[in-house]
Amino acid sequence: MAEMPMGTLSIAPNVFWVGVKHYNRRLFDGLIPLPHGTSYNAYLVVGKDKTALIDTVNPGFEDVLVDKIKMHADPAKIDYVIMNHAEPDHAFAGKHMLSLAKNAKLVTGAKGKEAAMMYFDIPEDRIIVVDESSKLELGGKTLRFIDAPWLHWPETIFTYLEEDRILFPCDFFGSHIAYGEFYADEYGNELSVDLAKLYFAEIMMPFRKPGANAVEKVKKLGVKMIAPSHGVIWRDPNVILEPYTRWTNEKMKKKVLIAYVSMWGSTEKMAHALWEALVKKGIEVQIYDLTNSDIGHVAKELVDTPVIVVGGPTVLNGIHPVAAYPTMLVKQLRAPTKYAALLTSHGWSGGAIKAVSDLLAGTKIEIIGVVDVKGPPKKPEFEKVMALADTIEEKLKAF
Ligand code: FEO
Repeated sequence: MAEMPMGTLSIAPNVFWVGVKHYNRRLFDGLIPLPHGTSYNAYLVVGKDKTALIDTVNPGFEDVLVDKIKMHADPAKIDYVIMNHAEPDHAFAGKHMLSLAKNAKLVTGAKGKEAAMMYFDIPEDRIIVVDESSKLELGGKTLRFIDAPWLHWPETIFTYLEEDRILFPCDFFGSHIAYGEFYADEYGNELSVDLAKLYFAEIMMPFRKPGANAVEKVKKLGVKMIAPSHGVIWRDPNVILEPYTRWTNEKMKKKVLIAYVSMWGSTEKMAHALWEALVKKGIEVQIYDLTNSDIGHVAKELVDTPVIVVGGPTVLNGIHPVAAYPTMLVKQLRAPTKYAALLTSHGWSGGAIKAVSDLLAGTKIEIIGVVDVKGPPKKPEFEKVMALADTIEEKLKAF
């Protein structure tokens, strides 16, 4: 199990971070790399009359959560356990908390109620269903709720603490980092936004429309602080609201992503020639050799890149599997990519072109060029690469 420092943090009068920093977790969902670990941020709001716990922690950390709550309140006397989102990294310990606090209720939305009963066997009579008209008065602390469906599960709600103007949006505006600091500005806003972009790409990008709706709702609240349930807390909400506005509204940059894998250098030579040609045209290029790249960073580029160029040789009548992966990601993450191109090579029979076309079928992505070479690339293929650079330059004029 991870290192577990026992501290808590007061983020406002009688509002405490009581979460867990999971420093050595290296993978989320068996898929997402966590180079900086992650945190499960639970928050305790202690009113004059009642106490609420907002979100809980990942399975295995229940006792840590309880010990941290004890520093500020009696866990057996918690009145409300608020479940913004039913994924176990925030909701699993809810059942444990209800078993300790016999009179506590789980507070969630209508869909959250279904999820709590299905995933965690929470009895119906222990659940209070809230909507945007609901308020929980804790005594000098008032909690309201914002409907935020599909961010990133259907049942998601946000909790808003009126007096302190703190928003608790669970995964939304989150990031994966577990080092010693708590606030975005402590790590530096630039690094924090970059990590939030990585998180957005991996988790929220497929849900841009509900995300844009939620961002507009949050802007109307006039929040002073955004306290997600992973990673940094935003003391200046505009630092994260501004990029989230861009990312959810598909604001693109004049940028090209080249993601390639090469076996004997043919694909790589074409990828590098295209890179050089685009850079000479003044176009920003992010290029990833997929054999030594964090796939999360490739996903991050997809947030605001209109053109992706996939490079990969034919292997056994299909695309090299390492090149297939980012192509699948584009589709599964519903990236806002507008145009794609393929650089590929083969020795005796092709197959990569059909494989990539099949992988992108059903998307609105337009394939604007293919350069396929038998054996190593020579002058005719490099001329085709230059022509592809011209086509990309033309397409990017719209951004
Ligand atoms: Fe961090 Fe969707 O749970």
